[in-house]
Amino acid sequence: MVVTKSSFGKAKDGQELSLYTLTNHKDMSVQITDLGATLVSITMQDKYENNTDVILGFDTPEEYYASTTYFGAVIGRNGNRIDKGQFEINGKRYQLDNNDNGNNLHSGNNGFDSRKWTVERISESSICFGLEDKDLEQGYPGNFKVTVTYTLTDENELFLHYEGISDQDTVANMTNHAYFNLAGHDSGAMLDQELWLSARAYTPVRDSRSIPTGEIAPVKGTPMDFTTAKPIGSEIDADFEQLQFTGGYDHNFVLQEEKGTVMKFAEVYSPRSGICLEAFTDLPGVQFYAGNFISDCPGKKGAIYQKRQGFCLETQYFPNSINQEGFAKPLLKAGEKYDTTTCYKFSVR
Ligand code: BGC
Repeated sequence: MVVTKSSFGKAKDGQELSLYTLTNHKDMSVQITDLGATLVSITMQDKYENNTDVILGFDTPEEYYASTTYFGAVIGRNGNRIDKGQFEINGKRYQLDNNDNGNNLHSGNNGFDSRKWTVERISESSICFGLEDKDLEQGYPGNFKVTVTYTLTDENELFLHYEGISDQDTVANMTNHAYFNLAGHDSGAMLDQELWLSARAYTPVRDSRSIPTGEIAPVKGTPMDFTTAKPIGSEIDADFEQLQFTGGYDHNFVLQEEKGTVMKFAEVYSPRSGICLEAFTDLPGVQFYAGNFISDCPGKKGAIYQKRQGFCLETQYFPNSINQEGFAKPLLKAGEKYDTTTCYKFSVR
């Protein structure tokens, strides 16, 4: 197992950026840049022994800065949407950027995805990135110190371990925004890939601005039901209001009521490549986003990404949960430890 480092150009403020490559004994490799602690590539052999990079991304920092896709980035302090960018903690009101139809999405214009992270530790199989987000720097209360540790095992598991601490009560709800395409990032739409999701319920949205109604609705009998595996594309364009609001799957699925222990919640398989992804988390929800808004997007190594070329499984507290009664709250108390783990495991069959 080795971790190597190369140059990844320059940050907006002129600082040098780096690209770190973790390689395991099975020849699987993962590349991560300190810009946004972003996953740039995940490469393994498919069933024909072709090297296959299964996530969408860019070759340069300039493209990461310019894009609103959040390819592979760490999102924080809060992933997903907050209604009108407002919330209250301990009787005090806070206002974030409204960067998405009058709401806050992925913490706005100064998100963790656009920051240069520092490398805190490197071991044979892991790399730990850290960031200090100041009181009100994004609009959230408290100085928040956070780390994300990526570990690649010889079982082809990629662990994402988030830890943090704040000196005031605050919101903490981080995720990773990797777009997977198990037939390869440059292989066209991923609609034939078969998804199993453990979720028996999801959180419907009010309208096309994607704020949940607060309801927990059963998936049974709807196109939202992936409790038996089916191709992602099989019902994505169904005559179903929730899918019309969001132009395809872009919903939070309910994995458990509260943060719990790490459990398997998804399995995706590409019949074309034979690559299989299993996903695990201890978080209550996952945003399953089918890349509906990607369009003519120039990506890595000359690829042009199109609509639904990648899917995201963004593990998280439910969208707008800081404001929504009945949803587990992504509230981190002053001095308490934020600690959550998500794992993506790859195999070939
Ligand atoms: C959201 C989408 C959004 C995408 C890229 C996803 O997490 O749910 O609505 O288009 O991120 O910003």
